[in-house]
Amino acid sequence: MRTLFLSLLATSCSVLGQDLSRSILERKLISRQSPAPTFNTFSFNQITNHFPNDTFYGPPPTSATFPQNYILNDTFYRPGGPIFLLDSGETSASSRGSFLLTGVIAELAQATGGMGIIIEHRYYGTTFPESELIAAEGLTTDNLRWLTTEQSIADFAYFAQHVSVPGHEDEDLTAPGRPWIMYGGSLAGAETAFTVKEFGDVIYGGISSSGTVKVFTGYPQWYYTIQENAPQDCVQSIEDIVDKMDFLINTKNTAALAELKTIFGLEAVQDIRDVALTIAFPIGNPFFYPTNSWQELNWDPNVGSDDFFLFCDAVTSANKTFSAVDSQLSKFTGGAVWTNLGNYANYIKTKIIPFCPPGVSLDSNECFGTHNATAWADPNDFSGNRAYLYQSCLEAGQFSQGAPLGRRTLLSRSIQTDYSERWCKWGFPAGKFNTVPATPALERWNKYGALHIQADRLAQVDGGIDPWQYACVHSPDGFPREDTLLRPYYLIKQGGHHWDENGLLNISAEPDFIQAIHDYEIKFVKSWLADFPKWRANQTQTRSS
Ligand SMILES: *[C@@H]1O[C@H](CO)[C@@H](O)[C@H](O)[C@H]1NC(C)=O
Ligand SMILES: *[C@@H]1O[C@H](CO)[C@@H](O)[C@H](O)[C@H]1NC(C)=O
Ligand SMILES: *[C@@H]1O[C@H](CO)[C@@H](O)[C@H](O)[C@H]1NC(C)=O
Ligand SMILES: *[C@@H]1O[C@H](CO)[C@@H](O)[C@H](O)[C@H]1NC(C)=O
Ligand SMILES: *[C@@H]1O[C@H](CO)[C@@H](O)[C@H](O)[C@H]1NC(C)=O
Ligand SMILES: *[C@@H]1O[C@H](CO)[C@@H](O)[C@H](O)[C@H]1NC(C)=O
Repeated sequence: MRTLFLSLLATSCSVLGQDLSRSILERKLISRQSPAPTFNTFSFNQITNHFPNDTFYGPPPTSATFPQNYILNDTFYRPGGPIFLLDSGETSASSRGSFLLTGVIAELAQATGGMGIIIEHRYYGTTFPESELIAAEGLTTDNLRWLTTEQSIADFAYFAQHVSVPGHEDEDLTAPGRPWIMYGGSLAGAETAFTVKEFGDVIYGGISSSGTVKVFTGYPQWYYTIQENAPQDCVQSIEDIVDKMDFLINTKNTAALAELKTIFGLEAVQDIRDVALTIAFPIGNPFFYPTNSWQELNWDPNVGSDDFFLFCDAVTSANKTFSAVDSQLSKFTGGAVWTNLGNYANYIKTKIIPFCPPGVSLDSNECFGTHNATAWADPNDFSGNRAYLYQSCLEAGQFSQGAPLGRRTLLSRSIQTDYSERWCKWGFPAGKFNTVPATPALERWNKYGALHIQADRLAQVDGGIDPWQYACVHSPDGFPREDTLLRPYYLIKQGGHHWDENGLLNISAEPDFIQAIHDYEIKFVKSWLADFPKWRANQTQTRSS
């Protein structure tokens, strides 16, 4: 899922606790480029509850509407042109601003005389329903009750039908009189697919990029792509070390585990699962980590980060400085050497442990412990992390950690979903009007079609080396379909997580495989636009008849 804030990246963040918020978001961060550009932020009067008759939501909101932020760029706009609406997903609108300037939205707008708008998702950035109540009480379980996927996608349709764009008040830009085409990457990609599917009579089309349309509890598949595509000597070293570690865990060899923790500098961390998660941070996981991982690779070096490769180089380094450590635990594993353990431990000690501020316990929630229930329950985290955890716990399941069983793994098998599901229980105690289910209600997300979802003018673009691939329609477990201009279905084979979202505006300066998808996106969008008058006439006719 991610694009955004320079400041959130490896150089400046600590893990968990107060900065948990930040580190969670980093799952999706890909930008270490320039800081987010500044935009004028506009405000739209959005409906708090689109489903007033649904008892799921309890009593009516204290405020029927709320100000929803959006930003725009009309540099390329010609009167009568299409509107490209980018969903900010689980972050602020401005943090996605570069996509209006040089990314896919700018490229589509340039090619078609369109206008680009980024709408800020409810509960992210500074867009909050019932904001006065939330300012007073924080993001309590009750005050999060308007944060559901169905409310969020209804926002996009209502916005397109009612917005009056500053500087263009004299024109009616609303849907369905104008072609509105959505774009979203990752969570926003899933929402884009759902919006086109649900509101196809309002939103004319959409591009769902790496849309995580199917959700799970536990997402061990995260590691599969990495195991297949990362440098194999690195992968095997880590898998071997994890196998040995899991042997010690299964045989409850506490003396050996104590020595293992000490080797990684994590002797203060009590729960071996917290140790296991920490030493896997450089690899990433579906929820949070402090440094850039496989997911933060990008074709544009100004956007992505190569931390993952630096990590692998360090683990497999031929430098013998730390190699004595490789034999230190052999006495517990029948004499077997833990190849590259010394290198691995040195990387964790020098690159991960420093995220824990001096004087703070390594076992606290602010650092590498994840077991302080009070810290998880803090309602005053408005950074997006708490909202994202809530969405995950309620219906999206994305927080859920689970190592693969019955195959080789980069994450200790001691981590299964019960480990992270505690965070939901602690984070969101039952309120008066709202309760988070014991395990995420995945059907609230998967009901839109999951890996089967498709619709006219819904383009589905994925990446072949994306760790989220198994949640997207190009999943190896998915249902291949024909690629047509009406229903584009395109895999960027060597692409990662929504690698078409960022661009250079000058498409011919992009690498060939990125040019190819951007050219294709322009081509199918133009073909959609050519059919718009017919669609519109047919729609009007169908309505009146
Ligand atoms: C909710 O119920 C009322 C009364 O039955 C009805 O008039 C209204 O159309 C319903 N609203 C929606 C959005 O279904
Ligand atoms: C809109 O985007 C264009 C193309 O990147 C850029 O030159 C211009 O400065 C942007 N305008 C605003 C107000 O951000
Ligand atoms: C090996 O690593 C040590 C410790 O990081 C470093 O001081 C030394 O220069 C390295 N040796 C070589 C040959 O790179
Ligand atoms: C748990 O977290 C709370 C809130 O952050 C903090 O006040 C408390 O000291 C923590 N408890 C422990 C044992 O670290
Ligand atoms: C776009 O990129 C191409 C290839 O790098 C370059 O030749 C061309 O001059 C660039 N165009 C502009 C307007 O910068
Ligand atoms: C016209 O609209 C009807 C009803 O929505 C639909 O079934 C039909 O396929 C449409 N025809 C065209 C040419 O879009």
